[in-house]
Amino acid sequence: MTSEAGATEVSSREGRQPWRVRLAAPDLGAEELDAVAQVFASGLLTDGPVAQRFEAAFAEVHGTSQAVAFSSGTVALAAIQLGLGIGAGDEVIVPSITFISTATSVVHVGATPVFADVHADTFNLDPADVERRITPRTRAIIAVHYGGQAADLAALADVADRAGVALIEDAAEAHGATYQGRPVGGFGQAAMFSFTPTKNMTTGEGGMVTTNDPVLADRLRLLRNHGQRSGGGPVHLIGFNWRMSEIAAAIGEVQLRKLDAALQRRRRNAAALTAALSGIPGLVPPASRPDREHTFMLYTVLLDHRAAAQDALAAAGVESRVYFPPAHREPVLQHDGHPLPTTDAVADRMLSLPVHCTVDQEMLRALTELALPAHVR
Ligand SMILES: Cc1ncc(COP(=O)(O)O)c(C=O)c1O
Repeated sequence: MTSEAGATEVSSREGRQPWRVRLAAPDLGAEELDAVAQVFASGLLTDGPVAQRFEAAFAEVHGTSQAVAFSSGTVALAAIQLGLGIGAGDEVIVPSITFISTATSVVHVGATPVFADVHADTFNLDPADVERRITPRTRAIIAVHYGGQAADLAALADVADRAGVALIEDAAEAHGATYQGRPVGGFGQAAMFSFTPTKNMTTGEGGMVTTNDPVLADRLRLLRNHGQRSGGGPVHLIGFNWRMSEIAAAIGEVQLRKLDAALQRRRRNAAALTAALSGIPGLVPPASRPDREHTFMLYTVLLDHRAAAQDALAAAGVESRVYFPPAHREPVLQHDGHPLPTTDAVADRMLSLPVHCTVDQEMLRALTELALPAHVR
């Protein structure tokens, strides 16, 4: 477990002092331990009632009729595409400013990721550029809710509908985020959430799909369980072992109950950071669009002297990181070369700062008074 400020003995960028403030710190405690102990006592470690309860609770929070738990967000995203029949010869439109597996999940199912540009303020897909990338081979658009702020779901759904392709939400970072008053997770054919330890709620490793399509949900349950229904029986399709364990689900149930409080703390911390950082020359705090509630899984600024700022932060013991190096520049992904001017303009200026639920006032002062102004003084 971590201290209040999330400090651990992990070395900082210089490899000398320990981090005083980690970029992310899971908020785990006695309740989660107790839930895990109950799973131990039950003797049932997989394919049991806890994952089913977690699914039902997660679906309710996100306003969908179905939720299907997976062992990771990446395989959940691949399962959605397999479930929709996407495969060899197909194209799927994705942003480049995202974790690599948004794009690699497309490759996993045999299809080709096609990158579209993003908005400069939210780093989310620009629907106008998405429309330009549609071809007769396009089968889906994956809209990432960058850092916990919903993408332009109405405009993207409109593009998807007119093109006759699926809209998939990559809500890996956006548990509890809303768009025009409704929780994300139910705007397209399906959505994926991730539960790695940097997220606003965690199960250690894990993923969840939400959907309002019971037929797709049934197919996803088969895909994650070797093509079989729970408990065995005939093999209906070539599947995988992509199940979530009961231990992970038990942690997830508790974390879901704590999600609202965690989001409120993050929003408070983000507001304090933005108030403190506004007006610093060469630094742009994150934009929050008025029709959506940002969950601040990431607090990402744009700044001119990123390396200097990172050094100043590290000297104050504060961890920062570039989320994300743009996927289209990764040689393994073979970008077709069409221009992504906004992506390229923001990619070298983005830096994510700690805003997690255990951020304290001292850390905010270190960021605002000590570290960040140092690079522009
Ligand atoms: C935007 C995005 N997509 C996909 C993933 C993949 O999820 P996971 O790490 O659970 O496989 C993550 C997080 O790690 C993510 O942030």
